[in-house]
Amino acid sequence: MAELRENEQKTLLALEKLGGSGSIDRIIEVSGLAHAAVMRAALSLKTGKLAKIREQTRTTIALSKEGKHHARKGLPERRAIEEATRLGGEATFEEIIEKADLEDEFVTIASGWMRRKGWATIEKGMLKTLKEPETGTDEKLLKLLDKKGPQLVENLSEELKNAVSTLKSRRLVGTKKKILRELELTDAGWELVKRGIEVVEEISQLTPELVMTGRWRKVKLRRFNVTAPGPAVYPGKIHPLQQIIEEVKEAFLEMGFTEIRGSIVETAFWNFDALFQPQDHPAREMMDTFYLAQPKEGGLPKKDVVKTVAKTHENGWTTGSRGWEYVWSREEAKRLILRTHTTAVTIRYLAEHKEPPIKVFSVDRIYRNERVDYQHLAELHQIEGIIMDKDVTLRDLIGTLKEFYRKLGLKKVKFWPSYFPYTEPSAQSVVYLPELKTWMELCGMGMFRPEVLEPFGIKYPVLAWGGGLERLALVRLGIDDIRALYKNDLGWIRRTPLCL
Ligand code: PHE
Repeated sequence: MAELRENEQKTLLALEKLGGSGSIDRIIEVSGLAHAAVMRAALSLKTGKLAKIREQTRTTIALSKEGKHHARKGLPERRAIEEATRLGGEATFEEIIEKADLEDEFVTIASGWMRRKGWATIEKGMLKTLKEPETGTDEKLLKLLDKKGPQLVENLSEELKNAVSTLKSRRLVGTKKKILRELELTDAGWELVKRGIEVVEEISQLTPELVMTGRWRKVKLRRFNVTAPGPAVYPGKIHPLQQIIEEVKEAFLEMGFTEIRGSIVETAFWNFDALFQPQDHPAREMMDTFYLAQPKEGGLPKKDVVKTVAKTHENGWTTGSRGWEYVWSREEAKRLILRTHTTAVTIRYLAEHKEPPIKVFSVDRIYRNERVDYQHLAELHQIEGIIMDKDVTLRDLIGTLKEFYRKLGLKKVKFWPSYFPYTEPSAQSVVYLPELKTWMELCGMGMFRPEVLEPFGIKYPVLAWGGGLERLALVRLGIDDIRALYKNDLGWIRRTPLCL
């Protein structure tokens, strides 16, 4: 072995004092070294064949809360069978339970285990005892743990060891593993120690003083071992989903858009009616939209705007359309909901800002009444952008979207016709994912209809697009369960790169 370092020398000396072998804890005690220093020394002594590392697993077993309860009162099946015997070996199961004063949650457990242990049969509610119910090893182990506290599994008798897995599966005990490491001198190690080790102080930090006085020539400088395993460091970082949100916002900002935000609780008026979505539209149903229980209603905007929106729904007003041809209800429009899309944010903004040019965006939370599974969440994010200007056309929208996607690293984009109640023409944009060799729908888009713009007195064309952010996140993060984005699984967050 090459020249020994200070830590290694001290570890060898400690081993000598300990008679040739000792646990890492003992070596720390005797040598005065830190845990990490001993571990590092142990590894290099092992490589140099001066010492051997032995590992032993130690498993501690302890009673759970329920386990303690049963240890004191007896297992449920024991309490029941004793009562049955007292009642003459035959009685209704119900009576036994009652007399044994068994807690509700243990009733089925008691009947199940009485059968499994072959103590009794239960047929049509009648219990018959079969044999003398001997004390089982499970009961013995429970008693022991209750009397003596947590034990090492390795020290239990062979008989009691057999009961560990049953009690574990019944959740009456828990086990914890710990690896104990012991270091032992090899013959070569002994020889070296016997020749005598003189600990030479090592310098790990070169100071100005050492350089100026020239003393650096005499001291022993510690060599770096660049291959030694170091402790893993997990620096704080921005959550992967938040990183993607910020990236999307940056793409908008670079393209000259301004961020706007709106309220999560919104009236149906802004979420649906203002967007020419009829009041019997399926998306408004309870199963798709969250309605607030308290308060139930919110305020509507100025009278004339409500009137023009109402007329547009009923007969098209002056928009040139026939509308949806039904009687529009103020009450329905006042209902408070959790917004189901961020288009509610942009239409609200347009109602207040009618002069071109306008380029605004929102990346924010929306809510849908979905059953949560690997593909669906009830709370998620949408990306939304609008452009209002004189003479903008669908071609501008397509060009803008291509550029927007390009900034997000999505180079191949296709557009095909689609439908939304508030846009005409409407399109769906799909992007190509080279890693998965598939196309994915990302944002719906279109030009707001006159039925949306005219009631608010907006005179210029408006380009709009919007879609889910989580879909994009799944692809970027290479995961297929959308719930992972919100689970805050530390392991996953740590494995995700610092910069996506
Ligand atoms: N709001 C639509 C959705 O939730 C997307 C969209 C936005 C479509 C703007 C057209 C224009 O899917």
